[in-house]
Parts: sequence; C-alpha cells; structure tokens
Amino acid sequence: MSFQPKTAIEPFRIKSVEPLGITTLEQRRAALVRAGLNTFQIRADEILIDLLTDSGTGAMSAAQWGAMLLGDETYAGSRSFFKFQAQVQKITGFRHVLPTHQGRSAEHILFSSILKPGQVVPSNTHFDTTRANIELLGVETRDLLVAEGKEPMLERPFKGNMDVEQVGRDQVPVVMITVTNNAGGGQPVSMANIRDVSRICRRHGIPFFIDACRYAENAMFIKLREAGYAGRTPLEIAQEMFSYADGCTMSAKKDGLSNIGGFIALNDDAWAERCRNRMIAIEGFPTYGGLAGYDMEALAVGLEEGLDEQYLRYRLGHTAHLGNRLLDAGIPIVRPTGGHAIFIDAGAVLDHIPWHQFPGTAMSAYLYEISGIRAGEMGSLIFARKNADGTTIPAAHELLRLAIPRRMYTLSHLDYVAEAVAYAAEHKREIRGLRFTYEAPVLRHFTARFEWV
Ligand code: F0G
Repeated sequence: MSFQPKTAIEPFRIKSVEPLGITTLEQRRAALVRAGLNTFQIRADEILIDLLTDSGTGAMSAAQWGAMLLGDETYAGSRSFFKFQAQVQKITGFRHVLPTHQGRSAEHILFSSILKPGQVVPSNTHFDTTRANIELLGVETRDLLVAEGKEPMLERPFKGNMDVEQVGRDQVPVVMITVTNNAGGGQPVSMANIRDVSRICRRHGIPFFIDACRYAENAMFIKLREAGYAGRTPLEIAQEMFSYADGCTMSAKKDGLSNIGGFIALNDDAWAERCRNRMIAIEGFPTYGGLAGYDMEALAVGLEEGLDEQYLRYRLGHTAHLGNRLLDAGIPIVRPTGGHAIFIDAGAVLDHIPWHQFPGTAMSAYLYEISGIRAGEMGSLIFARKNADGTTIPAAHELLRLAIPRRMYTLSHLDYVAEAVAYAAEHKREIRGLRFTYEAPVLRHFTARFEWV
C-alpha cells in the first residue's frame, strides 16, 4: 500500500494566531473613498487578506522567535553577526558578507560604490528599486529577458532566462540576473542560463551579480524542472547557482523568511572595502549594517528554513493551488505559475478599460470593495514611461499581482481569493476605469488618488 495524497498540506501547524480585518461592505466603501481608490492607502485593520507583497510579511517560525532572544546587540563584533555571516557564506560561498536593513540599501551601497555615469547594467529584468538605484547614478539599465518570458500565456519552464546573445561588453561594469524574475511573473532562471551568462561575463572580465531575493524558490524550480537536478538538495543547487557569480545583493525579507534584513555578499576585496566604507556612513558598522543583533539571529535561522525541501515543495504548490483555482474559473494568469505570486492579466479580464484608465488598479479597488482582499497593480500605473516628447509608453501588460506572504495564509484563504476574483471577472461591467485626482511626480503608485471614470 502506498498512500499518495493529492492535498498539498502546509508542513507546519499554527502556534500563534492574529485576527483578520473583518469589515462590512459600507466600511470598505468608506475606506476606498478615504484612500482615493488606491489600496496602498488602506489601513491594515481594514484588510482581510493582504496580497500586496510577499516582502517581510511572512510568518516567522518558533525557532526564529526563539533565536531572537539570543540576539547580541554589541556594536562591533556582535556574535549574531558571525552566525549570520556563516549562514550566508555556507549558501553563497562568497568571502565578504555585508548586512543591510533591506534589499534596496544593499543595491544602493553596491551600485554607488562601483558604477560611473554613462555605463550600462544589463539584467534579465531589473526590479524597480534596482533600476532606480542604478539610474539615479546616471547609469543606463537594460532588460534582456528571453522572448518567451514576455509571453504571459506561454507555458515554458524558465521564462526568467536572460537573452545571453545580447549581453554587450562596452561600458558594462557588472551584469545582474534576478532570481526569480519578480517583475516578469516570478518566473525562474535555469542553471544552464546562469552558467551561460557567467561564461560570457568571465570571458569579458565583467563581474556577475545575482539579485537573490527569491533564490531558494528558484533553486526548487531548477530541482523540479531542469534535467539533472532532481536528486540534488535545494542547498546544493543554490550553492551551484552562486558558484557561477562574483557576488549578490539580497532582500532577505523574501527567502530569508524574516520581517526585515538584507545583505551584499561578494568576493572582490577592493569592491568589498569600498562598499564597507560607504556602508559605515549611511547604514551602520559592518557587523550590524542596518540590523539589530536579533534580526541577524532570525535571518540565520530563516535562511536555513527557507531552503528546506518540504517547505519549498509546499511553497510552490501553495502558489500553484491559487493559480489552478483561477484557471478553473477561466481567469487569464501568467503561466506557468511562478514562486511568490499569481499575476492576473487584468487588461484581458477588463478589456473594456483602456490602459490609461488603469485596469489593474481598477480591478484592485473593486476586489477590495467586494472582498477585503488587497492586491498590487503591476501595469501602467507603475511601469509606464514618458517619451522625450511627453507621450507615454504603456507597460507591456496590465497585470494585477496577488503576492503570497510565506507561511501566512491557508488553502482556504486562497480558495476565498479565487472565489472573489472569479466574482469580479463575472461582474466586470460594474468596474469602470480610473482617472487621477492626484499624481506625484515620482513613484506615483504609492500616493496616487483616483476617481471612477
Ligand atoms: N529585488 C527584487 C527582485 C525585489 O523583488 C525587491 C523587493 C527588491 C530587490 C528590494 O528589496 O524591498 O528589501 O528593499 N520587492 C518587494 C515586492 C518590495 O513587493 O516585490 P527591499
């Protein structure tokens, strides 16, 4: 006999609970009016299920909370730093480890230490903070995603891969690759692609860095989808991924399973020294970065738990469960399902709303109104760009991201989400486009205010 269950259970039980924000339709309508129809402006206690981001929002384990009591708050040479450093070195193999308070400060410190105006930094797709930190230095960013990565509905195993042929060498001080590719649907990058990018970089003498936020989910996708890796552990796969690179930046608020934290890890002594000097001025002494000792304890344990195979199997299956429920209901989503989020093609669902009336944001406001669920737009509100002549280039797709915090919501929460999205799609004629009543000059999605058209 061999029991082969179909149910992907959570490989943990709940020790401590927190109530959801249960509201009435009237309360949610009032909240939306107050928020100018922008769900970024809604208070946590008015939200039932929060799928705005998977960053820093997950549940920590009992082992992490326990480890926090061991936090050593010594300014220089904290014991907690050495535990954290040993864990990062075990996974990445990089010599220097610089803790930071989150991913974007790691990016800022690295890029401002190594880039010069007029240079170009290619990536599969830069995440928006990475792009901002590079462009603020007068350096160009270039997204070189493979063609299949740009086709939302095409079922391919590694749609996060970089187009290796296009990695140039002139004025390129560093090449980045984001694993998994967040902006492109949480799609993984194959080991073969990482190896190819590395080979080209080494041939031209260009350092190669990984944006490692979701490296463990990427490693698990490699195990499940790439020939030759089924028998390897996620740790071994991650070690191989990093072995092809010269360094990484990481927001440990994702696969570090912690509420705060990040780091730069790298091999080059001269770059490490420049980064450390800058870090002391803006982030903190090199043995704490922007973190408390107890944060580094939580991270040391979280990084280990984030590579646990049972956890990763559950994590990818959990996300796929929501994707499958939505597909069953006929909702178009980016396929195959990625690691940390489901991306709904809101432009296709709300085909009566043009891009400049923000179908993703409109769907997000309506979804909140009917169900209390908060999702995040990934379309022209965030990604549209202005031409020199003042005209606007819309985003390639009007997506709505349902990002899933780690170890936080149960399968029944996801089923509720699928039901609400299906209801919204069935009642799409009730959803109108949006027009700005306030638009900030930069990063407008955080503070924009709207009215229904
Ligand atoms: N790189 C990637 C690929 C990210 O997804 C993020 C954050 C960062 C860098 C920056 O890290 O937030 O710790 O400063 N992504 C979050 C999200 C905010 O919702 O996708 P951070």
